[in-house]
Amino acid sequence: MKILAIESSCDETSCSIVCDDSNCSKRILSNIINSQIQLHLKYGGVIPEYAARNHLDCIDKVINEALKSAKVSLLEMDAIAATAGPGLIGGLLVGMVTAKSIALFAKKPFMAINHLEGHLLTARLCYNVAMPYLALLASGGHFILVEALGVGNYRVLGETLDDAAGEAFDKTAKMLGLPYPGGPSIQEAAKKGNKNRFKYTIPLQKRLGCDASFSGIKTATRLHIESINNINDQDKFDIAASFQNIVSTFVLRQLEKAYKMVSSDIKNIVISGGVAANTEIREKIQKFCTSRKLTFFAPPLDLCSDNAAMIGWGAIEKIKSGAKYSPLNAKTMPKWPIANLV
Ligand code: KG4
Ligand code: ZN
Repeated sequence: MKILAIESSCDETSCSIVCDDSNCSKRILSNIINSQIQLHLKYGGVIPEYAARNHLDCIDKVINEALKSAKVSLLEMDAIAATAGPGLIGGLLVGMVTAKSIALFAKKPFMAINHLEGHLLTARLCYNVAMPYLALLASGGHFILVEALGVGNYRVLGETLDDAAGEAFDKTAKMLGLPYPGGPSIQEAAKKGNKNRFKYTIPLQKRLGCDASFSGIKTATRLHIESINNINDQDKFDIAASFQNIVSTFVLRQLEKAYKMVSSDIKNIVISGGVAANTEIREKIQKFCTSRKLTFFAPPLDLCSDNAAMIGWGAIEKIKSGAKYSPLNAKTMPKWPIANLV
């Protein structure tokens, strides 16, 4: 099966050709990503209207490049897939309308994919991971801990009560005057900093379950910044290191709590989403998994952040699991909870 997939839910326009035929030497035949980072850099965050216009400007080029680089034609595709949500409505509409038009023109079935499900299944695109598994999805818009029981069958164990993890990185970077996106900037600055200089309280210590909250950490960071007269580079590095330390400690703690909530049969831990690219978070989770004899699956960095290969793979998994194709009037869903897929 070969799928042409489009992802345009936030600030990346991406098109990928994904294949699971036994005669395909690899699963991802192409995965073209046009990042809008330069466009949003001066605002310190994504401006939805600019994002939508940019998706519209470059989507044709990205699709053509994906087909050319995979050396395939549209007619060879078995289906066309697109992210239907959750995400920013303007970008989603551009991707959905384009994918539906291609499906109509090429007489191919269409598949609407949930962006979060795409992230959750990325580990299975890269490795041979059996379900059920415990997954952490941490991105710019989400922080959820999920028991993945089967394709389309996800039990949400906990989620953020306020900001997403990536949002906390982005806002902290903005407060420190570091470039967008905040995750990579904070990670880089933290390398030169002292993680023990600024103190934080671990959030939600008395709350049962594994929900998360990042707004208290963000406020504490703002207070740390305000407590310094004439902040210099070393102060910024120390704040970045202390912030990354508390976030990674807290994320691991919630993952440990989630692990206690799932069946003892679960031996696989999976992470995904842009924040899963964070080295300190990866290292802490790896240590936890090693100590518990669990296997840790962390997709390569370029597949952790938004890309269309995960959407194409999501479509393949759904089709193989017997899910129906989507009608051409399938709705774009800016809010689409992962728990309501079947
Ligand atoms: O999954 P993603 O590409 O898009 C969404 O669906 O949101 O995630 C983007 C988020 C941004 O907030 C970015 O700052 C964060 O992922 N991020 C990181 C790192 N790389 C990207 N956060 C922490 N450490 C990183 N190395
Ligand atoms: Zn994402």
